[in-house]
Amino acid sequence: MFAKVKQLIEEIEAASPKTKDELEQFRIQYLGSKNVIKPLFGEIKNVPNEQKKEYGQFVNQAKETAERKFAELQEALEAAAGDADADLLDLTRPGEPLELGSRHPIATTLNRIVSIFQRMGFTVAEGPDIEDDWHNFTAMNTPEDHPARDMQDTFYLQNSTEMLLRTHTSPVQARVMTSQQPPIRIIAPGRVYRNETISARSHAQFHQVEGLYVDEGVSFADMKQTLMYFAQEMFGTPKIRLRPSYFPFTEPSAEMDVWIGMDNEKNYRLSKGTGWLEILGCGMVDPKVLENCGIDPEKYSGFAFGMGIERQAMRLYDIHDIRLFFENDVRFLKQFSAVI
Ligand code: DAH
Repeated sequence: MFAKVKQLIEEIEAASPKTKDELEQFRIQYLGSKNVIKPLFGEIKNVPNEQKKEYGQFVNQAKETAERKFAELQEALEAAAGDADADLLDLTRPGEPLELGSRHPIATTLNRIVSIFQRMGFTVAEGPDIEDDWHNFTAMNTPEDHPARDMQDTFYLQNSTEMLLRTHTSPVQARVMTSQQPPIRIIAPGRVYRNETISARSHAQFHQVEGLYVDEGVSFADMKQTLMYFAQEMFGTPKIRLRPSYFPFTEPSAEMDVWIGMDNEKNYRLSKGTGWLEILGCGMVDPKVLENCGIDPEKYSGFAFGMGIERQAMRLYDIHDIRLFFENDVRFLKQFSAVI
């Protein structure tokens, strides 16, 4: 009798179910309602009286062994299942690389320009892309018969002679001056539109940054100093050239060139063999413009400037075709992912 129980205990200890099903077999065999230990309790009647107590304890031991073994096996199997799940999520494997976006070269160029003027105390102003004739032309002292108003240049909204896509950022000057009195010190970056043939060098949409400084006693010298600082920060040289020019909204007016030199082919080509790169138009705000916007020209004076972004971005990143800026071809844009 004792030998039979001993053998059973050994059998239980040796059992090693590998799967959930095998473990269930183990449970049914040793702990289920018809388990193999139960009949051994019944055998107690065949055991001599003096050994009955010892026998009973021995069979109990078999039962406890089965219970303990079951608990151990269950735990081991669950842990193994956990490991199997962990296999699916191997944290040491290299991850899927994240596709990083990149900033558009126009945006980075614009941000650079904006931050240079912010350091000089200019704040950013904005105006709408769809403008009215008054802000775009009339307020800016552009007479009815001025060629800039020509339907060839300006995109008017359908069936309208009043509403148009702004042809420059200058109308933001009028928007700011009609809503606030000096001192005014703003820059206005934005998109502008002109009905031009699209080619590698020109486009029907491009970007400008407008600047306006109005206060008591603002002089041409202040303008020159401001623009020299800009050239120094943007192009690494304060060497600029102001050429007399004409704009309806400034008097006197000038165009500003920056010295980029001719020491390499790129700069030679960009400056058309002169070493000078034209980057902006500027001048003293015409008193008529101040008056149009409700600012007393006897008391205040100011300077203004407007520059194109594309040409500067093309120089900065060595881009030869302006159309690339507007096609949004990912293969082009991706090349600027390292640029901040
Ligand atoms: N609005 C002019 C253009 O689009 C650029 C310009 C010239 C702006 C002189 C100004 C300025 O503010 O003073 O060509």
